[in-house]
Amino acid sequence: MRILQMSDIYLAADKSENLFDVNVYQVFNNVIDYICKNQKQLNIDALVVTGNISRDGSSEAYQYFYSAMDRLALPYFALAGNQDNKIRMREQALTAKNLHSLDKIAAGKWAFLEINSLVRNEDFGFIDNSELAELEDKIRKNSDKDIAIFLHHHPLPVGTPIVDICNLINGDTLLKLCDDYAVRYIGCGHAHTVSIAKRNNISIAVSPAICFQWQNGTHRAANIKSSGFNIISFSENLHIETYFI
Ligand SMILES: [Fe+2]
Repeated sequence: MRILQMSDIYLAADKSENLFDVNVYQVFNNVIDYICKNQKQLNIDALVVTGNISRDGSSEAYQYFYSAMDRLALPYFALAGNQDNKIRMREQALTAKNLHSLDKIAAGKWAFLEINSLVRNEDFGFIDNSELAELEDKIRKNSDKDIAIFLHHHPLPVGTPIVDICNLINGDTLLKLCDDYAVRYIGCGHAHTVSIAKRNNISIAVSPAICFQWQNGTHRAANIKSSGFNIISFSENLHIETYFI
């Protein structure tokens, strides 16, 4: 099955307000239009959104997000990022038509699991022990499957200080757990760049952002105006494609 993973859309209540000179509504619409127009060629079965849908946690942002995603007429799952407001995200989800839980999106010999990496009022990520134990339990229950895990924060640095100062600070602990159970894929966002790393059995892929990318290696807020996403083919072999549009 082929999953389009997108991340970091950064919608806000005020649709006209630019973010680093980018109108995020315009670029998000552009991506949705692109996917609609190229659905046959992209050949995706579902979408996974790895957080930071909104930058102000407003109901308006989530309402817009769900209605735009529903235009694709494909099942999708969305988790929250450090800028999101989980309560408003959940409230507005009642209006979504094609939103599904992650386990309903997985198919074949794959199991998809999510893990919360958010810390209240912080940009960095951390997974606490109870969440790690819960994840381990779910991995064990799916021991006959290939496991893919989705979360917001990147567990490995991407080489860009502006985002590496706020990555998943216990990324090593997550990766060790994933090594122990031969997890095959970790998909995240948050870093506004593309990065694909291989560690033992695990492919770790950071999806680029929808709103804009950070310049590679930058310490300050220097952005590149482009939207990106990954398409992952989950079959016997993993195949990860990055699109910039
Ligand atoms: Fe983030």
